[in-house]
Amino acid sequence: MASNSIMYSLVFILLVAGGYANIITDLKDFAYSQANGETHVWDQTQVYPGLHTQMIPIPREVFGWPHVPLPFLGQIAGVSINLQGHPVLFHRGKRVWDETSFNASFIFQQTQQGPVSVDTVITLDSATGVIIDAWGADRFYMPHGCTVDHQGFVWLTDVALHQVFKFTPHGKSPLLTLGSPLEPGSDMHHLCMPTSVAVASDGHFFVADGYCNARVLKYNAQGHVTRMYPQQNEHLSLLIPHSITLLERQDLLCIADREKRRVVCVSSELKTPVPYSTALSIQPPGMGRVFAVTSVGDLVFAVNGPTSPQIAVQGFTISPFREAVVDAWAPTSVRFRNPHDIAINKNGTEMYVVETTPGRIWKFDTSQWVDVNEFGFVPLE
Ligand SMILES: *[C@@H]1O[C@H](CO)[C@@H](O)[C@H](O)[C@H]1NC(C)=O
Ligand SMILES: *[C@@H]1O[C@H](CO)[C@@H](O)[C@H](O)[C@H]1NC(C)=O
Repeated sequence: MASNSIMYSLVFILLVAGGYANIITDLKDFAYSQANGETHVWDQTQVYPGLHTQMIPIPREVFGWPHVPLPFLGQIAGVSINLQGHPVLFHRGKRVWDETSFNASFIFQQTQQGPVSVDTVITLDSATGVIIDAWGADRFYMPHGCTVDHQGFVWLTDVALHQVFKFTPHGKSPLLTLGSPLEPGSDMHHLCMPTSVAVASDGHFFVADGYCNARVLKYNAQGHVTRMYPQQNEHLSLLIPHSITLLERQDLLCIADREKRRVVCVSSELKTPVPYSTALSIQPPGMGRVFAVTSVGDLVFAVNGPTSPQIAVQGFTISPFREAVVDAWAPTSVRFRNPHDIAINKNGTEMYVVETTPGRIWKFDTSQWVDVNEFGFVPLE
C-alpha cells in the first residue's frame, strides 16, 4: 500500500513535471488524494459502500429543443428545476456584466439605469421549451444564481444588490431577504456579490458569498448564520465560490471554487455525528475554471468556462468520493462558449446548461445510465 502511494505520487510528479494538461484519470491507477498526501475519505467503505459499481448518465444533447425560438433573454446566469420538472432561468435582459459594472470597492456603477425592466425569472416547459411562467421585472440589477428548493421556493442572488432572496414559486414578494441593498460588506448582515444558494430538506441553507468575501455561509431555517466556511483554523481557501450543491445523503456540500479551478466538497454538518472533516478536492489540470455544479445522488455535474486554449469548455461528471472526474461531455451540434450554470432533475433523467454569452439554454437527455467501471474514464482535453 505504502509503495503504491509512492508510485502514485511519482506518476503525479512526472505528469505535472511533464506539463501534461490532459492527464487520464483512472480510478485504479491514480488518485489525487494520494498524490496530495491527504486523507482519502473514499477508503472508508462504510461511508460509501457502493464504490465498486457506480452508475453515471451519458448526457446527450436534445436537438431542436426548445421547439420554438425563445425571445431575447440576454445573459442567462442561473438555471434550476422546479417541482414539476421544468427549468427555471434567471437572466439579465439587456443588462450586461462588463468591466465597467463594478468599481474596485465592488459597488455597482449603473444603479441610475434602474433594475432590469423585463421579467428575469422564466420557466420553460421541459418537453417543448415554451415559456410557461415569467416574473421578476423591475427588481433585480445583476441576476446571478437561481435555486428552486424542495418545497418549490425560488432563491435568487443578485451580485449588484449584494442580496439573496427567497420567493414563493410565482415570485410575489420575498419571504426572506439577506444582505443590504447595493451595499457590499463582510459581516454577518452583509454579503458581497453572492453567487449561489443550496437548501437542505431540514430548512438549513447555504449561501456562496461570493466574488469578494470568498466564503460560504450556513444559515438555519430562520435565516441566522450558524457556520462559516472556512472557519478559523480550517485550511480551505476559496477563490470565488461560484456555485454550490448539496449531496444530502452523503452530508456533503460541493463548491465550484472557480478561480482555484476545482470542485471542493466539505461536510455540510447537517447530520451528527459529522462523518468526516477532510475536504475532498477534485482538481484535474484539464478541468479549468469551474463555473457551476449540480448534483443527483452521489454524483456532481459541473461546467467550466474559458480558461486557456488547451482546456476545452465542457461538462464534467464527478465522483466526489473517488475525487475524480469520471466523464467529460459537451453538445455535439455547436460548442459551449460561456456556460454559467447547470441543473439536473430529481430522478437524473434531464439536465440543463445555460450560457451568458450568447444567452442560450441547452437540454441534455441523461436517461441512459451505465456502470462507470465498464464505461471507463474519459481523458480531459
Ligand atoms: C423523471 O422526471 C421527468 C421530469 O421531471 C419525468 O418526465 C420522468 O417521467 C421521470 N422519470 C422517472 C423514471 O421517474
Ligand atoms: C466606488 O463607487 C462608489 C459610489 O459609486 C464610491 O463611493 C466609492 O468611493 C468608489 N470606490 C472606488 C474604489 O472607486
